[in-house]
Amino acid sequence: MVYTTPSEALPHPTRTPALSRPQKAVLTTPAHFDVTYVINPHMADNVGAVDTEVAWQQWKALRAAYTALDCDVHVVDGVPDLPDMVFCANQTLPYRDPETHETGVVLSRMHAPERRDEVPHYRDFFEKQGYAVHTLPDDVQGSFEGMGDAIWHPGHAALWGGYGFRTDLDVYEAIQGLLNVPIYALHLDDPDFYHLDTCLSVLDADTALYYPGAFDEDGLALLNAGFDALVEAPEDEARSLFACNAHCPDAEHVLIQEGCTVTEARLRDAGFTPVPLDTGEFLKAGGSVFCMKLMAW
Ligand code: ARG
Repeated sequence: MVYTTPSEALPHPTRTPALSRPQKAVLTTPAHFDVTYVINPHMADNVGAVDTEVAWQQWKALRAAYTALDCDVHVVDGVPDLPDMVFCANQTLPYRDPETHETGVVLSRMHAPERRDEVPHYRDFFEKQGYAVHTLPDDVQGSFEGMGDAIWHPGHAALWGGYGFRTDLDVYEAIQGLLNVPIYALHLDDPDFYHLDTCLSVLDADTALYYPGAFDEDGLALLNAGFDALVEAPEDEARSLFACNAHCPDAEHVLIQEGCTVTEARLRDAGFTPVPLDTGEFLKAGGSVFCMKLMAW
């Protein structure tokens, strides 16, 4: 089922089948990263403004942070003329079947024509590694931007799905058909928060970091039903520093853009350990930590 409002029938995410947390972190080199077009509001004043050297340093520090947290880091090379390819959370949705343990990916259908040629590079990467690769059925209209909008509930076979800007609600019916897991679909309301991972970061099975202003009433009700604790990021940190584009790979450490001081304090109060990193060059393109890696099993 795809749920857009809380209902009696809503299965609580922690009562869905258990699913290990993914350990493989796929990163893409910023070799060809740049801002050359504008497809989200954050890019508007930043065409040509990326410092490539600094971007490399920031990316290397991110890769080192994942290695230090014992993630199994895999690197895909960036490709010329695909400046957003570094945001490798967007081209696929990896999954693991909790019963058969099959691992695979659902390929995205990018909303922006500028990003469509990125997808085959990730298809090749996953095919070579023996993953099952699925495309969305041809009769389903609409776009889908992978783990930018579709996020697994930590430790469980249930998905949180953002829709409205990059992903269409109808697509979640198709994904539900492919993966057979409940999907809690959240409408996104504010163009600064165009992907779900810009306003929601699921930290552990009970806790999420979020910016409430990006959701409508139904979405907020679903989030309240699905998590025992919601840590709120203040508007300035969420909007300009991508505080909610943080990532918690191990239910403890939270990799987050540096300078999110209020969010960091709230994370510490909730029992997490913030790991601040500078992703300043990537913020110019409208992305930070969460979009710069893909977690797979
Ligand atoms: N410039 C990219 C875009 O607009 C940034 C993507 C960031 N990724 C993310 N998951 N939020 O598509």
